[in-house]
Amino acid sequence: MAPASVFEQVIEYANRTDPYRLYGQLREAPVSRQADGSYVVSSYREIVALLHDPRVSSDGRNLAFVPATQPAPDENSLGHSFIRLDPPEHDRIRRLVMRHFGPPHSPGKIDGMRPEMAEIISGLLDGIADQKQADIVGEIAHPFPVIVISQLLGVPREDEARFSEWADAVVESFGPSAADPAERRRVRTDALAALRDYLSGLADARRERPADDMISGFVTYNGPEGRLSPEEVVQTATLLLIAGHETTVNLITNGVLTLLRHPGVLERLRLEPELVIRTVEELLRYEPPVHFPALRAALDDITIEGTTIPRGAPIVLALAAGSRDPACIRDPEEFDPDRDPNEHLGFGGGIHYCFGAPLARLETQLALSEIFSRLENPRLIADPPPYRASASLRGPRHLQIEFDRVLPRGSR
Ligand code: HEM
Repeated sequence: MAPASVFEQVIEYANRTDPYRLYGQLREAPVSRQADGSYVVSSYREIVALLHDPRVSSDGRNLAFVPATQPAPDENSLGHSFIRLDPPEHDRIRRLVMRHFGPPHSPGKIDGMRPEMAEIISGLLDGIADQKQADIVGEIAHPFPVIVISQLLGVPREDEARFSEWADAVVESFGPSAADPAERRRVRTDALAALRDYLSGLADARRERPADDMISGFVTYNGPEGRLSPEEVVQTATLLLIAGHETTVNLITNGVLTLLRHPGVLERLRLEPELVIRTVEELLRYEPPVHFPALRAALDDITIEGTTIPRGAPIVLALAAGSRDPACIRDPEEFDPDRDPNEHLGFGGGIHYCFGAPLARLETQLALSEIFSRLENPRLIADPPPYRASASLRGPRHLQIEFDRVLPRGSR
C-alpha cells in the first residue's frame, strides 16, 4: 500500500489534536493532486485567488466525481442551499436572505440582540454556579449559539434540544473522513429529513401568522427580485441553523482552550476587556473552526502555481493552512491578538464569505468575556482535549476545566 499522503495524514483522526505541523508540509506543494483525483490548495495566495475565481464552482453538480473521502451529495443535503450554488442563483438568494439579517435593510439586527445574547450567556454561567468543574462544550459553548440562532429564526424554545441533535448529526457527517461513507450518508440524510419536516411546518405556521423573526421575514417578503420559494425557505433555514451552529461552538471552545494555554494574553484580557475583539479575530486565524469549506469544482482547466486542475476536478481549499502561511503572515505560529493587519481565512472569502460573521464575532466576544470574568482561576483538566471526528469542522468534543468558583454577575 502506498504511504499516506500529507493530506491523508491530516484527515487521520490521530492528527486531529495538531494538524498544523502537517499543514507546513502541505504548503511545500501549494497545489497537490491526491490519489483520489482531488486537488488540495494550501497556500494563502492561491486559496484567495481561487475563492475569487469565477471558474471555481461551489455547486456539487459540477463535480466530475465525488472523491472517496467525501460523503456523496444526496437529495436532502445542503447541496441546494445558497452555500452550494453559483451566481446568479447564489447572489439572488443571499440578497433576499440578507435583508432580514444585516445591512443595508436590517443594519441594527445583530447588534440589537446584544442585550438578549448577554442575558443568555450570563444565564448559562449561572447554571454552573454551584460547580467547580465544567465541560465548556456541553454547558456553555454548545447551548449558546443554538439558543441564539433558534431565537433569530423563530424556533420555539421547547424544540431547541431536538434541533440541536439533528444539526449535530449533520455536522458530524461533513468533510473528509476515514469513516464508512454509506453509514455517514444515512445518518446525514435522516437528520436532514427531520430538520426539513420541522422547518417546513414552522414556515407554514408563519405564513398563516407572521411573527417578528427571520422565517416570517423569509415567507412574507416579496420585492423587485421576487420572493424565496417555499423550498428555498426550508433550505436556507436549514443552512443557517447548521452553518451557525457547530462553527461558533468550536470558536468559543477553541478560544477558552487557547487562552488557557496563553496565560499572558488571558491576564491582559482581564485588564483590557476590549482586547476581546482582536482576540476573537486572532482565534479565527490561529484556531479556526472551518479547516476545509465546501468542496469546489473546476468549471474549466485552471492552471495555478504550475499545476493544471482539470475541468470537473474536486478542489479542497485548506483555509487553516492558508491562515498560517509564512509567505503572507508574519510569525504565523504565534498566537498574537495585537497582529495588525490580520487577514485570516477563518470566514472564507469571495462571494461565499461567511454570512453570519457579525453574529459569530459578537457571540464569541460575549462568551469569552463572560467566561473569563466569572470563572475564578480556571484551569484545563486535560490538554489536549478529545476532538470531534470531523477534520473540516475541527473542534474539541469536550473541554473539561476546573475553577475555584463562579463569581456573581457583573463582579469584575
Ligand atoms: C465562528 C463561527 C463561524 C465560522 C468560523 C464560519 C465560517 C464560514 C466559512 C469559512 C464560510 C465559507 C464557506 C465556503 O466558502 O464554502 C462560511 C459561509 C457561511 N456561513 Fe459561516 N461561519 C461561522 C458562523 C456562522 C453563523 C453564526 C452563521 C449564520 C447565522 C453562518 C452562516 C453562513 C452561511 C449562510 C454561509 C454561506 C454564505 C454563502 O454561500 O454566500 N456562519 N462560514
